[in-house]
Amino acid sequence: MVKAIYPGSFDPVTNGHLDIIDRASKVFEHLIVAVLENPRKDVMFSMSERVQMLENTTGCYDNVEVVCHQGLLVDFAQKLGVRIIIKGLRAISDFENEFQMALVNRKLNYNVETMFMVTNNMYSYVSSSIVKEVASYGGDIRELVPSQVYTMIKNKLFERIHNK
Ligand code: PNS
Repeated sequence: MVKAIYPGSFDPVTNGHLDIIDRASKVFEHLIVAVLENPRKDVMFSMSERVQMLENTTGCYDNVEVVCHQGLLVDFAQKLGVRIIIKGLRAISDFENEFQMALVNRKLNYNVETMFMVTNNMYSYVSSSIVKEVASYGGDIRELVPSQVYTMIKNKLFERIHNK
């Protein structure tokens, strides 16, 4: 069975991520969506909240599994017996960071290959960070994230304001 792992911080999952999951699920027999920590980013949602939002939005795929891991991606891939990492590429600006991560991962484990899927142009400007920024200023993000995620973001911002 050809398996692939699609890693990310998914804080939160966006329609751009879901587009990659949809397309990758048609190419690979089994797709593992892995929620990982990105030490370079501050998060809005806990790991279990991020897993929950991904499970809720990918439940329609028989061959997609959502997991989480704290530690190196390549170690996790090896443990799961997966040799392909799928990454979405939106723009040239993504490339430098993704190229560095792909090279680091290959240095850490030569048996694991990174493959890039070019984003759907409808979502080329969508990122988790932009979604959080727009939402925090009261902007409309309903076309950028699934409706359940929209509600979770609204609730999180409400909690933040009322717990200050
Ligand atoms: O969605 P993101 O934040 O761009 O995803 C980045 C992520 C989580 C895939 C990356 O930070 C990662 O692989 N973290 C796990 C730790 C690791 O393996 N680091 C070495 C590769 S840079």
